[in-house]
Amino acid sequence: MTAKKKLSKLDQALVNEIVTGVIRWQLKLDFILDKILSRGLKHTDPQLVNILRIGTYQILFMNKIPDYAILNETVNLTKYLAYKKYATSLVNSVLRELLRNPELNKAPDREKNLLDYLSIQYSHPKSLVKHWLRIFSEEETEKLLEKNNERAKITFRINNLLASNEEIKQYLDENKIDYSLNKYYENIFVINKSSVSLEENPLFKEGKITVQDASAVIATKLIAPNENSFVIDMCASPGGKTCHLADMMQNKGKILANDISKQRTDLIVENINRLKVKNTEISISNALNINEDIKADYILLDAPCTGSGIIRKLPEIKYLNREKTLKKTVEIQRKLLEKATKLLKENGVIIYSTCSIEPAENMENVMWFLKNFPQFSLEKADNYVNSFFCKNDCVQIFTHIHDCNGAFAARLKHNT
Ligand SMILES: C[S@@+](CC[C@H](N)C(=O)[O-])C[C@H]1O[C@@H](n2cnc3c(N)ncnc32)[C@H](O)[C@@H]1O
Repeated sequence: MTAKKKLSKLDQALVNEIVTGVIRWQLKLDFILDKILSRGLKHTDPQLVNILRIGTYQILFMNKIPDYAILNETVNLTKYLAYKKYATSLVNSVLRELLRNPELNKAPDREKNLLDYLSIQYSHPKSLVKHWLRIFSEEETEKLLEKNNERAKITFRINNLLASNEEIKQYLDENKIDYSLNKYYENIFVINKSSVSLEENPLFKEGKITVQDASAVIATKLIAPNENSFVIDMCASPGGKTCHLADMMQNKGKILANDISKQRTDLIVENINRLKVKNTEISISNALNINEDIKADYILLDAPCTGSGIIRKLPEIKYLNREKTLKKTVEIQRKLLEKATKLLKENGVIIYSTCSIEPAENMENVMWFLKNFPQFSLEKADNYVNSFFCKNDCVQIFTHIHDCNGAFAARLKHNT
């Protein structure tokens, strides 16, 4: 932490780029290194492997840094190792070999083994690629893998409680900030240059804008509460959707924003203070324990999930043991869905959402719910959200189609 504090903003950005990049491309980097190292990757000290990954990543993906600087800096990292002399000469020879021989960067032959090719070319675990090839076509899977490796642009939502869309546009134009408007929603903006940091921007500090992915904004739009509604947000931290709801309700009605984590609920407090949200009460508890005497008009269950829709932002997610995590996650999601039914007024609406593209967490959970709670029906999402984002009556967003995080949302209406 202390070391991080001493870094300039520029160096922090560089460290962030290298760390995220190495995680994103680890399988491809390891494939290349394994070919160069005579002992193979498995028999090389993990600390040295990490140093080699850092150097290899920069050579392959960071064109602005000259090769000699990458070589020097990577060799420098070996000075902390006990076997410095051996490590220095190994790093030198491996990186020089990589610079000499660009063929090393070639993925396995696609014709011989599609799975191996896709896994290495796009650096995603084979088990995940295999799973997606079962769900999507080959072409779609490849597009998804490719998009997952892009660096996402910064997206923000205008807090219409404090600012109009026109005011924000005028500020961005006057300050020559390059931005694009979302084609479908006028309160979603995208910053075109990744070097712009919003946290230091006065618009952000004054709460007029907030960083939020388009997929999250669109899922919240599916709720469409009335101004005087009572909404329970069962899993609310860090409060992105809570604050958007408050904006849609013009700070009227009431929102109970609950989360299991004290640390994460502190982030809701920060956000509601910055965005001047006034209609929200915060509670810290396992949502399964929320008092059932309270009944809401709308329940937002933005469930804990495997996060398979946000790999572009958090590449480490792709290395999770999917099979193991999925079973447990679906169990929790179903328990939370059942609990939601007990917190709802008659004729109320549950919005079930995830930031996953996994059918088991999305459509299959909705089917399970409708079967077990026949007093509910699935309302057509495209009555509330632009049909571009809808499939099978639900919001279904994919990074390779919609160019934002993957997400899912369903509107489940109670019928008396
Ligand atoms: C997808 S995030 C919610 C994001 C939030 N809705 C937003 O838009 O900013 C899921 C949240 O569920 C919380 N959570 C996990 N299990 C929970 C439980 N049993 N009860 C309440 N919250 C839970 C996590 O702490 C996490 O903050």
